[in-house]
Amino acid sequence: MQVIETIGDFRRARAAFGRLGLVPTMGYLHEGHLSLVRQARATCGAVAVSIFVNPTQFGPQEDFATYPRDTERDMRLLRSAPTDLVFVPTVSTMYPQGFASLVEVAGVTEVLEGAARPGHFRGVATVVCKLLNIVQPTHAFFGQKDAQQVVVIQTMVRDLNLPTEVVVGPTVREPDGLAMSSRNTYLSPPERQAATVLYRALVAAQQRYAQGVREGEAMRQTMHQVLDREPLARTDYVSVADPRTLQELDAVGDQGALLSMAVFIGTTRLIDALLLSEP
Ligand code: PAJ
Repeated sequence: MQVIETIGDFRRARAAFGRLGLVPTMGYLHEGHLSLVRQARATCGAVAVSIFVNPTQFGPQEDFATYPRDTERDMRLLRSAPTDLVFVPTVSTMYPQGFASLVEVAGVTEVLEGAARPGHFRGVATVVCKLLNIVQPTHAFFGQKDAQQVVVIQTMVRDLNLPTEVVVGPTVREPDGLAMSSRNTYLSPPERQAATVLYRALVAAQQRYAQGVREGEAMRQTMHQVLDREPLARTDYVSVADPRTLQELDAVGDQGALLSMAVFIGTTRLIDALLLSEP
């Protein structure tokens, strides 16, 4: 496994591979990330992982400074994954003095996480565009848990004709349903218990759909009811949206629906999502 910090060194090392899968991450790796690494290896034969806590996707009041970091542990996990190339740039490598160009994806960034976190997806799109240009992977792997991020990146790759295929991996969950996330480490033991409410709310809405309910508002209410019963939870938003446009649905039709939510558990903001497939 080669661990590389600079763009020039990375480009030289990358030249040894033909098909290469990239898994972009912010580190503090868990099974969700590692499942994408395995999927990349199965698809491409060779895997690159980037670890970069990207300052431009954090708002001024958000957790950039305190975001969990443990490079040594990450390297151990990646070595046994296994991984071929690890790109660990510094902030000044990615954003040198005079950096002036940003990637703005309109429309799908204006709702849900984009509305709650202004500028977040501009930071995500910019850094992912840079990583795709540096690594030049044939395939790039992203998790369904961050469902809107997937739509934003698919839109950018399509609109800017980036020569990489975007592959989406399923959400990996703890045995009690909580979606794995580096931010779960912020939760106290009672909060960790309460955090299962996100998945329980998604499943409750999915069950209503299975029973034949199609009204978006009825499914949003079901999610609110489950979330409201958890005293440690404060709902930021719940959504039943078109999976492509992310616009809220009055009724779920052939397009299926993306159920998603952001919920504060104490001071920790968690997101989760579930895709309802076509009827
Ligand atoms: P990060 O939160 O580290 O996640 C890296 C990748 O792992 C993303 O594609 C994310 O969707 C996926 N992932 C996280 N938790 C998952 C889970 N429980 N199951 C499956 N996949 C999961 O997302 C980012 O970093 C950043 O925004 C990034 C794309 C790296 C740009 O900075």
